[in-house]
Amino acid sequence: MAGHAQPVYENAAKNAAENTVENISEMPHGMGDLYPYSTDHRLVHVAMAETDAQLLHLEWSDGHRQTLHAIWLREQCACVQCRHPASLERILDQTGYSLDITPSHWSILENGDLRLTWPSDGPGGGHVSLYQAAWLRHGGRPPLDVPSPMTWGAALAEGLPRFDFGSVMAREDALLEWLETLRQTGLTYVENAPAAEGIVANLARRIGTLRETNFGGLFEVVAVPGAISNAYTAEELPLHVDLPAREYQPGFQFLHCLANETQGGNSLYCDGLAVAEKLRTEDAAAFRALTETPIIFRYHDEDTDYQMRAPLIGLEQDGTVREIRFNPAIMTVADCPAAAYREFQRAYRCFLTLTRDPGLRLERRMTAGEIAVFDNRRVLHGRRAFTAGGGRRHLQGAYVELEDVNSKIRVLRRHLR
Ligand code: OGA
Ligand code: ZN
Ligand code: ZN
Repeated sequence: MAGHAQPVYENAAKNAAENTVENISEMPHGMGDLYPYSTDHRLVHVAMAETDAQLLHLEWSDGHRQTLHAIWLREQCACVQCRHPASLERILDQTGYSLDITPSHWSILENGDLRLTWPSDGPGGGHVSLYQAAWLRHGGRPPLDVPSPMTWGAALAEGLPRFDFGSVMAREDALLEWLETLRQTGLTYVENAPAAEGIVANLARRIGTLRETNFGGLFEVVAVPGAISNAYTAEELPLHVDLPAREYQPGFQFLHCLANETQGGNSLYCDGLAVAEKLRTEDAAAFRALTETPIIFRYHDEDTDYQMRAPLIGLEQDGTVREIRFNPAIMTVADCPAAAYREFQRAYRCFLTLTRDPGLRLERRMTAGEIAVFDNRRVLHGRRAFTAGGGRRHLQGAYVELEDVNSKIRVLRRHLR
């Protein structure tokens, strides 16, 4: 193929003038991506591999080398025939070109873009693709991911991350700083909020839509007669995550304190990720039992009957902890043979005991105007029993999904990082 025999990068400057491509101006978002990819380096050399006519070797001004496959490049074309310019979504049929496709011509343009011409691809052939250098340098991968979790123990009580409600509501940089911290610690307090109903929804909607559940869009944590959950009594709530009987436990929980004038009722938190990691290093057999034994969680009342079968510790394929599903109040049975039950219970108690370790948990009293926001699939929360009838205790709650928190962080980072 012509492109093989004679790489044209040497002629890049000349080509840039000659090969003015009409649809450059029709690619307002570069590689069809709203994220502003950037790089300090320039492409200096492009050549086809001698052994495989579909592998393109790129060389950069800093010596960095990259190998890309021709099919990969064809598929990523962001021209208006391949990707809708408004939706930025693909319209190219991914079976619409040969599996043996390889570019017939390539050049580096003056602006640093890589330009490829494809042979007889569709009517008239000669389909032209442009790739932004910065996008190539990132390997076409979506923008850097959100911050990773950092585990904590009781010491967080002194340094509990706090954010000002007014700032988070008014300023995007304050919103981003709060959400990035939230992804790291999994627990933050937003303070100085008006102690009024509905305010928690305003804060949650800074991130995305509310996750509505059978308890409502907003839920009222108050002691009532005929309660449909222990949460709506004055009982102690041992450390737990909310709604583990749901396939997707709500990602983030908001609890806004409107009044806390009773005797008792202090809040408890424990980093379930820290507990799981401690168990992994100190008792590998218990860790294994809790990652492998499914537990049946169930919530049911007059109107609903939710059931979910999943282990207490959910792992990613690479072994990192994805989620904690722990709630003694609505855990029914572990789904394992009778002969294995004792070992499961031993492991379960190890976890339970660790959540009560004073070095791993923190206790504090919420005051009106504070909003606790935490990762409900990671951070366990609870409260001490309180004396109903003393004074008023009212928390208003809401949930937002993890994917909405991550999405908001990425959108804010486009301009702020
Ligand atoms: C809940 C809950 C905590 C509290 O409603 O699920 O954990 O302090 N409430 O009442
Ligand atoms: Zn195209
Ligand atoms: Zn709860």
